Amino acid sequence: MEDSVQIDWQEIDTIIEKYKSDHEALLMIMQDISDIYNYVPPEAVLVLVDKLGVKKSLIYSVATFYKTISLEPRGKYIINVCTGTACHVRGADKVMDALHEKLKIKEGQTTDDLRFTLEAVRCVGCCASGPVITVNQETYGGLDRSKAVKVIEEYERDAS
Ligand code: FES
Repeated sequence: MEDSVQIDWQEIDTIIEKYKSDHEALLMIMQDISDIYNYVPPEAVLVLVDKLGVKKSLIYSVATFYKTISLEPRGKYIINVCTGTACHVRGADKVMDALHEKLKIKEGQTTDDLRFTLEAVRCVGCCASGPVITVNQETYGGLDRSKAVKVIEEYERDAS
C-alpha cells in the first residue's frame, strides 16, 4: 500500500490560516485535511506540530477518538457496515462476511488500490431498513450478501 500521497502544501497552509493557526482548532483543521486526502498524511502531522505548537501525541489522540479522522490512508469510498442490534439480528454479519470476501480486506482495512475502506459502525439511524451499509454519504438498506456485493460493484464500475 502507498504510504503517502502528493500533498498540496499551499492548500494545507490555507487551511491552517483559515483557523489562524489556533491550536484549539486542531480538530477542525484535521477534519479539513481529511476531507481532502481521506486521512491526515504524516508530513501534514509534522506541519501541524510545527505551526500550531501541539504535541504529536495530541494529534494521535484526536485521530483515535474521532472515527472520521485517520492517520492511515483510507479509501476513496468508506464503507460502514452497521453492526447495531437491529442490523445484527437481520444478518449484518453475513453482509460483513460478503464484503470481506469481495474486497479481500478485513474490518478497518483499506484495499491496496485505495478505493475502499471497510469499517463497522453502531446504528446509523435507519434500523427498520437493516441490514444497512453506508458508502460515503449514501445509505443502502435491506441487504443480503449478494445485494451488498452488487452495491460495491457499482462503485467499482464508477471508479474504473
Ligand atoms: S442498528 Fe443498524 S441502522 Fe440501527
